[in-house]
Amino acid sequence: MSEAAIPVVTLDGPSGSGKGTVSRAVARRVGWHLLDSGALYRLVALAGIEHKLAADDVDGHARLAAAMRVRFGTEREGERVLLEGRDVTAAIRTETMGQGASRVAAWPAVRAALLGRQRAFVEAPGLVADGRDMGTVVFPHAVLKIFLTASAEERARRRYNQLKEKGPGASLSALSREIAERDARDSSRAVAPLVPAADAARIDSTDLTIEAAVERVIELGRRRSLWA
Ligand code: C5P
Repeated sequence: MSEAAIPVVTLDGPSGSGKGTVSRAVARRVGWHLLDSGALYRLVALAGIEHKLAADDVDGHARLAAAMRVRFGTEREGERVLLEGRDVTAAIRTETMGQGASRVAAWPAVRAALLGRQRAFVEAPGLVADGRDMGTVVFPHAVLKIFLTASAEERARRRYNQLKEKGPGASLSALSREIAERDARDSSRAVAPLVPAADAARIDSTDLTIEAAVERVIELGRRRSLWA
């Protein structure tokens, strides 16, 4: 299959909308590859800290974005994320790294450095791409675009439950504030802001279980004959 013929399904939306979990479940169900683009921005933020870059060193972060060696382990390997051969799966999942990611993600040079890297994830039989600008910028010709949302309260609650599982110290009010800050920054930045693509199907997951949200995406794909 030529690369242009390989189908891409995009799932964009704000943090806590469930798009990460839904994307992973959809990819698993249909046997497609998965791109967790947020992880790449988180890796740039982490690499910047490890290289002791100044927080406002745009060029330094862009260089790291282009050069960092990244590997996403397979499902069998436990879906680990490796940076320069080291397991950083847990290190990039903190809310601090989410904030750092959102800061470096506002810089056009960093986004440009990651553009080709993200497109290189397209592989037969298909790719499910999870992020903020998958349908608008990275894969504008995707065969199916989804914009997943949920109320701000529900999203904060989900993030809280996720972080609580990993240990004590999470505070719902602090998380609500941080998520609101991150949403505002992601939606208002000049380059690739978080907006639904004009041709995206919107799914509000506030009152949906993960299974129900997955089912909606599967059904939309079926209607387009992407899978059986
Ligand atoms: O999805 P996740 O929470 O891992 O993303 C972390 C941050 O990375 C987001 O808040 C956003 O600023 C940035 N991001 C982005 N474009 C993407 C994916 C993530 O700007 N495609």
